[in-house]
Amino acid sequence: MRSIRDLDLKNKRILMRVDFNVPMDDEGKIIDDTKMTAALPTIDYVLEQGGSLVLMSHLGRPDGKSDSEFSLRAVAAHLSELLQRPVTMADDCIGPEVEKLANSLRPGEVLMLENLRFHPEEEKNDPEFSRALARLGEIYINDAFGSAHRAHASTAGVAAYLPAYAGLLLEKEVTMLKKVMNNPQSPRMAILGGAKIKDKLGLIRNLLKKMDILLVGGGIGSTFLCAKGVKVGKSICEQDLLHEARELLDLAAMAGKTILMPVDVVVANELSAKATPKVVDIDAIPEDAMILDIGPKTLKGYTMAISRAKTIIWNGPVGVYEYPQFASGTTGIAQAIAASQAISVIGGGDSAAAIKQLGLEDQITHISTGGGATLEFLEGMELPGVKSCE
Ligand code: 3PG
Repeated sequence: MRSIRDLDLKNKRILMRVDFNVPMDDEGKIIDDTKMTAALPTIDYVLEQGGSLVLMSHLGRPDGKSDSEFSLRAVAAHLSELLQRPVTMADDCIGPEVEKLANSLRPGEVLMLENLRFHPEEEKNDPEFSRALARLGEIYINDAFGSAHRAHASTAGVAAYLPAYAGLLLEKEVTMLKKVMNNPQSPRMAILGGAKIKDKLGLIRNLLKKMDILLVGGGIGSTFLCAKGVKVGKSICEQDLLHEARELLDLAAMAGKTILMPVDVVVANELSAKATPKVVDIDAIPEDAMILDIGPKTLKGYTMAISRAKTIIWNGPVGVYEYPQFASGTTGIAQAIAASQAISVIGGGDSAAAIKQLGLEDQITHISTGGGATLEFLEGMELPGVKSCE
């Protein structure tokens, strides 16, 4: 990728795509600003080098219509606090008024555009819309790794009209993900959880090529157990995917790879805050119970395997960790990864949130800001946002 470091930014107006799609509460208050703080190194770099910035992002999915609920105004105000300098908020992301604001920027000044997705042309990657965005800067920098899997006007299309470079965050994310995927040091391990196996079949297939060991939990674990003939009660067991899950198990066996599955689990009759947890071996799961976490024996085995790994990638909690009685597995996995000496990369919102909740961020090599983008990257797919800077 062409890097921002190769640029002379002095007196240049930079049009930069960031992913400020941050979670907000009902009152429009930012709940987690990780994606914003992750973009600060690139923002600071541009400003320190004497450039000015036109920042663009999406927020939520407003369906191509202007909607105050999805305005980036609160995000701009928060950015101003983080940067300790004024951030001007534009009323739109294209048009003569916005161009006027962009043209009047002096070195060190920052303009935040309104939500790109207020225009349906953004997600359609419309060339005219891309051209209108391109008029706002002299150089395009993409630092929105979280949106790099989207072929939208601001993540891909605009690169046809301006010299395009990768920001420091995009560069770091890609470097780290490549490092775990291509690290020759064995054992290489992927830990996969989360509710749905459907979205992750391609991922598992690719990881089986690259990794030596797969540890599974969550809905993925239940589906694999089910595929092996274990009676999983009321647990997630995606019937239409059992055939494919069996195929993956065969593929792993033929390639000499290991898929570690739970040997015991935490079950309950319902998924609720007051549900009573019970630990059972996998051959004793009651018919009316569902698997909501991995059990202590499984965690012990997984912890041991993690301590031997040289490379670890983790995506998805292994239990319903939002409820304390089903959080032990995910907490234990997070602690084991933090304690290991391996290169460790955490991809995906929930596993990253678990690590942060436990205050273990400093003991992880890299926590990705991408959910879908990380998954697609690990699946071996080409990301349009990355390609735009190549
Ligand atoms: C994310 O939060 O995963 C990114 O910001 C992309 O958002 P999207 O799924 O709405 O494109």
